[in-house]
Amino acid sequence: MVTQAHPEAFVRWLRQVTPYVHAFRGRTFVIATGGEVMAERSRFVHFVHDINLLAALGIRLVLVHGARPQIDAELKAKRLRGRFVKGLRVTDSTALTAVKHAAGVLRVEIEALLSQGLPNSPMAGARIRVASGNYITARPIGVVNGTDFQYTGQVRRVDAQAIAARLNAGEVVLIPHIGYSPTGEVFNLAWEDVAESVAVALKADKLLLVTDRLPTNRKGEVRGELTAREASALLKKSDLGAATTRAIEHALRALEGGVARAHLVSRRTWGATLLELFTHWGVGTMLTADPVERLREATIEDIGGVIALLEPLEADGTLVKRNRELIEAEIPNFLVLEHDGVILGCAALHPYPDAKSAEFACLAVAAERRDAGYGERLLAACEERARERRIRRLFALTTRTAHWFLDQGFVEAPITALPAQRQALYNWKRGSKVFVKKL
Ligand SMILES: CC(C)(COP(=O)(O)OP(=O)(O)OC[C@H]1O[C@@H](n2cnc3c(N)ncnc32)[C@H](O)[C@@H]1OP(=O)(O)O)[C@@H](O)C(=O)NCCC(=O)NCCS
Repeated sequence: MVTQAHPEAFVRWLRQVTPYVHAFRGRTFVIATGGEVMAERSRFVHFVHDINLLAALGIRLVLVHGARPQIDAELKAKRLRGRFVKGLRVTDSTALTAVKHAAGVLRVEIEALLSQGLPNSPMAGARIRVASGNYITARPIGVVNGTDFQYTGQVRRVDAQAIAARLNAGEVVLIPHIGYSPTGEVFNLAWEDVAESVAVALKADKLLLVTDRLPTNRKGEVRGELTAREASALLKKSDLGAATTRAIEHALRALEGGVARAHLVSRRTWGATLLELFTHWGVGTMLTADPVERLREATIEDIGGVIALLEPLEADGTLVKRNRELIEAEIPNFLVLEHDGVILGCAALHPYPDAKSAEFACLAVAAERRDAGYGERLLAACEERARERRIRRLFALTTRTAHWFLDQGFVEAPITALPAQRQALYNWKRGSKVFVKKL
């Protein structure tokens, strides 16, 4: 638990979050929810505070919302009932008035919460500006199978340029489930449709939909990740309920439209948005066009992630300290294991061609991802690269990880087994052991 009595837990927690903070700054996220979240005051307050926190971390944020329970409540107060066909509201003129009222009230309430900054509130000191406007052009759905949906519409166009301008100005953009037609009419839209269209138009990095139920496996555990193909198959074979099915369908269309990731989180899970975005285990379902894990050569953009991984290990003496300039110079020698944009593992292969050898160095796997075979995969990839370059021998220097190298087929060797150039750099004070593996 993070308390004053356990400062190390706090520091560990903050360090675990850092790679995500690096990865997310300047990215565009569209977060969308039905009106259900806003119907319960305490959930609503937490949700908006979480939005506020994301904005404060430099994420370009668009918040899309619906208002179904609020519209129903207003109709009920007038002793009327909403009419739905295949989960879609038929918006007559009375319902449209309720739509306008609900959207207006929610906008004011969301803006009020986003403006909070009292010293004892979670957003003390944060000054977050909110923009809202006529960003969505809509057209009527029309008559479908004999039902005239009247003022229920669908998105025709998104003014991405106008939204981007507000995001560039550092504002959070708030978009309700409402669109305007060139004829000056107002249309009630499905919030999932608005969210998908906005995410595609902005080429968002993430679309996060707050929904009802999440897809589960046979044991009833939430499916943490699904590729688009797996999600489509799931829709065909299981009944996930209307709301979740709709959310997945829109998420899939967003992926097809070029959005990098779509996440579903449950509105019933406390802090779901933050847990899904900032922990590797997540609490929702992430949908991706392709598998999310990649082992690849590092680029200059990975330097921040690599440093975040190495720094704690340098601080406790497991690895030798390397300054940023050195890592920058050596980055072409690095391989990284990336999971959804976050660097979870790295290793470097420094060749000594004259000795037909290479040093296997800077091996590190994020603390929360150890014992899952990542270290072994990084080594195997380095071995493959070494063989391609006709390197016959790998060597590694270690003070604390001797047995891992033994497990991987290395044998201990004297310092004289190192290439002469490397021997000259050997740090006698550190007294690392030398391990060698023939390829
Ligand atoms: C060493 C390290 C890269 C291994 O990564 P990993 O992805 O957890 O490794 P793998 O999943 O491939 O292998 C896990 C196995 O290695 C063992 N292992 C991990 N660290 C070890 C160590 N320091 N000494 C001995 N064995 C170790 C685990 O116990 C596990 O074995 P088991 O399954 O039999 O219990 C990782 O523990 C790490 O980042 N450590 C800190 C940095 C470090 O020591 N780098 C090497 C510097 S030379």
